[in-house]
Amino acid sequence: MDAHRGDALVVGAGIAGLIAALKLAPAKVTVLCKTRLGKGAATEWAQGGIAAAIGKDDSPRLHAIDTQRAGAGINDRKIVEILTRDAPARVEELLELGAAFDRTEAGELALGREAAHQRRRIVKAGGDATGHEILKTLIEAVRGHSSIEIAEDVTAADLIVDDGRVAGVAAVDNSSGARVAFRAGAVVLATGGMGRLYRYTTNPVEATGDGIAMAARAGALLADMEFVQFHPTALAIGRDPMPLVTEAVRGEGATLVNDLGERFMLAIHPDAELAPRDVVARAIFEQQQRGRTVGLCGSTTIGDKFPQDFPTVFGFCAGAGIDPRVQNIPVAPAAHYHMGGIAVDEWGRTSLENLWACGETSATGVHGANRLASNSLLEALVYGSRVASDIANAAPRQRNERATKPSRQRHAPRRNPRTSAAQALSDVRNVMYSNVGLVRNQAGLREALARIEELGAQFGEAGSELRNLLVVGRLIAEAALARRESRGSHYRSDFPQSDEAFAKRSFTRLRSVA
Ligand code: SIN
Repeated sequence: MDAHRGDALVVGAGIAGLIAALKLAPAKVTVLCKTRLGKGAATEWAQGGIAAAIGKDDSPRLHAIDTQRAGAGINDRKIVEILTRDAPARVEELLELGAAFDRTEAGELALGREAAHQRRRIVKAGGDATGHEILKTLIEAVRGHSSIEIAEDVTAADLIVDDGRVAGVAAVDNSSGARVAFRAGAVVLATGGMGRLYRYTTNPVEATGDGIAMAARAGALLADMEFVQFHPTALAIGRDPMPLVTEAVRGEGATLVNDLGERFMLAIHPDAELAPRDVVARAIFEQQQRGRTVGLCGSTTIGDKFPQDFPTVFGFCAGAGIDPRVQNIPVAPAAHYHMGGIAVDEWGRTSLENLWACGETSATGVHGANRLASNSLLEALVYGSRVASDIANAAPRQRNERATKPSRQRHAPRRNPRTSAAQALSDVRNVMYSNVGLVRNQAGLREALARIEELGAQFGEAGSELRNLLVVGRLIAEAALARRESRGSHYRSDFPQSDEAFAKRSFTRLRSVA
């Protein structure tokens, strides 16, 4: 196995990984990227923007209140305070790096509005192409640093742990299939989400929960695994992954109607289409369960401004023969973001010595049971930066204090070749969407766990992405089974109310290796 060595190793090249790498320089940093740099990261597809209390009528305190309200009472307050306090400074840094955010005619940042925000506070670029602009900016900055090496087309497979200390990552070179060891003084996981686990998702195919699965196999503490956010309005035109129709479209007044012409959100929540994401997503799902289809109508409120204000959405619609200026956009809920992940403290430290995590793969506790729109790019910026400063400043490395001894691992059972890997992937995606999706219950969760167990027995040693998805799917289903209440994005039809006894975050470890 070839070996590379550096001061720091960052696994993942989306916003969290690149900001961490940038701030770690001039240390010698290697960034592992599963595809070509700029591809395969959900950042590139982010439409909405970065939430930051920049407006004159806004404050970090109001931003924190909205973040906590969306999170249904279990956000970590300290982490929320740091997030909302640091937001304007992180936006300023991106501007200094050259990010071209949208401006008003007066030259000020043009702030958009999204659901559950009581103020206009969404910093955006190109109308609905914010992620693209940020990634472009960070890539240019990273390329300008000779101390940052980007290893493209390399998939991380497992953590290398020496004497209880994370020392690097065993990876596979995608083009040659060769195993390569990347060793470093500090290791950062920034591998993004796990949306591929669900039949319907807005995430890129690369979002296979690799960081969570690697950390889990090495015994790391995980948190909030049951909380998976479904975006209410993915474009329902038969594409996989589903293109996103940004929430900002509803922020600008578009309404949801079913095929009977009913604006059903009015009867469900006082904020109607701008209710919290889980409420809107479940309402659309319920319409679907009743055999209805749902459209997003922006013809009167946005109309002719669609191409200019939402060029990405307009392009997706046009490609499917839909003109949103005059027609409803067909929408459906899709897995969008995972609030759970590798448990970290306020510096991104995991429970494993010398391992940090940031971005979607981590669980800082900032989002609680449900993430407020446009807080994900922000979290990646704020906590990616904090990880870098902790690595630069702190020695010797600390563990996250919640750490306890890793549980014993057992070997995966022998593989039964009856189901193909493609079939297994399709099965797990279906069962996750049906049974571990927007509406859950005990029987469905048990059924999902049984199927995942069966597939784990067959594919525990197979190609790493499927293996990773099965590990993550199991952890989500187990956590969802244990939370016998409904809260935020986690809705149990057999326990439809919130229960004070569960008004706290959940922590878990992988009990055995799938
Ligand atoms: C959106 O544009 O609706 C997505 C923003 C987000 O997920 O935060």
